[in-house]
Amino acid sequence: MPNCFRVRSFATFGIALLMWLPLASHANDAQTKMKYTLFCSGCHTADGRGSGDPRIPDMRNYVGYFAAVEGGREFLIQVPGVATAPLKSKELSQIVNWMLRTFSTDQLPDDFQPFDEQEVERLRQYVLRSELGSTRKALVTRIEEYKKNN
Ligand code: HEC
Repeated sequence: MPNCFRVRSFATFGIALLMWLPLASHANDAQTKMKYTLFCSGCHTADGRGSGDPRIPDMRNYVGYFAAVEGGREFLIQVPGVATAPLKSKELSQIVNWMLRTFSTDQLPDDFQPFDEQEVERLRQYVLRSELGSTRKALVTRIEEYKKNN
């Protein structure tokens, strides 16, 4: 009898695990969205359009282009709002990947590689400050070129 019970609870455990797995990855996305809401949406709003302050760029159908041009990956992590966010690099990589997919999936290059913890950790050591404006301007020019060819 105790043996039989053990087999049954094993089976129950297995089934529970199988049912839980897809939910878990969904829950991860929900957690990432929650973190975006907490740490970014105050300025960038839930849909990425920006709070209306003219300094905040509209990310919708645009921010993904940065991942397509040279120097853009660095920029995405080295903008102050990302690099200095009070978040671990792993969480930050998940938020930025989520943000790119959610607001600008069509602009991502076909060979887009999601950010991982190590890359974010490395890139965020440098924060764009005085050269932020000129760096973005140069990237926007590159994006205009890229759009012509794609
Ligand atoms: C206090 C307001 C504020 C918060 C909070 C904030 N940002 Fe920003 N973000 C800005 C501003 C303003 C800019 C424009 C560049 C600058 O002046 O820093 C910007 C630029 C960006 C850009 C570059 C977009 C472009 O088109 O140039 C990205 C990507 C970005 N933010 C992502 C994030 C993420 C992800 C978070 C949350 C972890 C976040 N930001 C939190 C204000 C904020």
